[in-house]
Amino acid sequence: MNRIFSGIQPTAKMHIGNYLGAVRHWVRLQDQFDAIFCVVDLHALTVPQDPEELRTATRELAATLIAAGIDPKRSILFVQSHVAAHTELAWLFSCVAPLGWLNRMTQFKEKAGKKREQAFLGLYSYPVLMAADILAYLATHVPVGEDQKQHLELTREIAGSFNHRYGVEFFPLPEPQILGSATRVMSLRDGTAKMSKSDPSDFSRINMTDDADAIALKFRKARTDPEPLPSEPAGLEGRPEAANLLTIYAALADISPAEALARCGGAQFSTFKAELADLAAAKLSPIAAELRRLLADPGYVEGVLRDGAVRARAIADPVMERTREIMGTLRV
Ligand code: TYM
Repeated sequence: MNRIFSGIQPTAKMHIGNYLGAVRHWVRLQDQFDAIFCVVDLHALTVPQDPEELRTATRELAATLIAAGIDPKRSILFVQSHVAAHTELAWLFSCVAPLGWLNRMTQFKEKAGKKREQAFLGLYSYPVLMAADILAYLATHVPVGEDQKQHLELTREIAGSFNHRYGVEFFPLPEPQILGSATRVMSLRDGTAKMSKSDPSDFSRINMTDDADAIALKFRKARTDPEPLPSEPAGLEGRPEAANLLTIYAALADISPAEALARCGGAQFSTFKAELADLAAAKLSPIAAELRRLLADPGYVEGVLRDGAVRARAIADPVMERTREIMGTLRV
């Protein structure tokens, strides 16, 4: 049986990078897979969080996922800290993952920066928790953006090494699904940096809750170069900001970048940015409206998450039981 698992951090508001790179594919994949989606609050705790803000962000992110089209009847939607299997399996995996594998992780190096000695152990072992998230459900496919590819490779290595060490075929080696053209949406202020929830400038990203005016303003202020848009994809080479806006346009319009250029090639940025803003507002405003409706009913969202956790535990608990048995813990 094929099962997908994916996660998203409640560190701040969800942005269109998350949506175009991951979440919109999750919505579609619900038709083809047994699907599990997780708000990974324990991953958010790897950097300092205000407790009340984290709680609010967790509830709002779950609501945003439902508003974007995650159907909690068909799929399982839950919060990571509600299912203890994640942390337990992360510990067990930390006993089979060599330090050398973790030392290769570029996200840790970027996030810890020069303050490596002060970075928390949790930030370092973050990818082990991610492997546990996926493998606690024996998930076979993981739809993510490009930035998570290295973590997925580590997950496969951990699964393979566990199976080899214990002579079992227990954990699957999950396949990353990096889908569509918007696998890495870049900052609106710098076409070489990933659009990110942690960028201090709100002008670097379009949030799912931005209204039409905010969207128009942010695209108008987005960095570009003085040339008009080319008519062929090759003309975007060396023009990261132009390429990024075009990628966003194509993903929102559900067409290929080449088709987008056939439509918009030759346009000046002033014209193209206005069209892009209209398209983004048209796509995002129904989601924002549904989100407002859901936030007015927090009891509903919390009920969904409670139910999701029960269904998640029903899958993860037997996996944990078998994992402990394979590793040699005593059952009495
Ligand atoms: P997170 O919360 O940073 O991002 C959630 C999803 O959005 C994708 N994404 C992007 N895609 C395109 N362009 C961007 N600028 C962009 N920014 C983010 C991410 O690739 C991701 O798919 N470690 C993960 C969360 C996680 C997880 C998991 C994912 C925890 N456990 C298990 C899959 C399976 C993260 O921090 O994603």
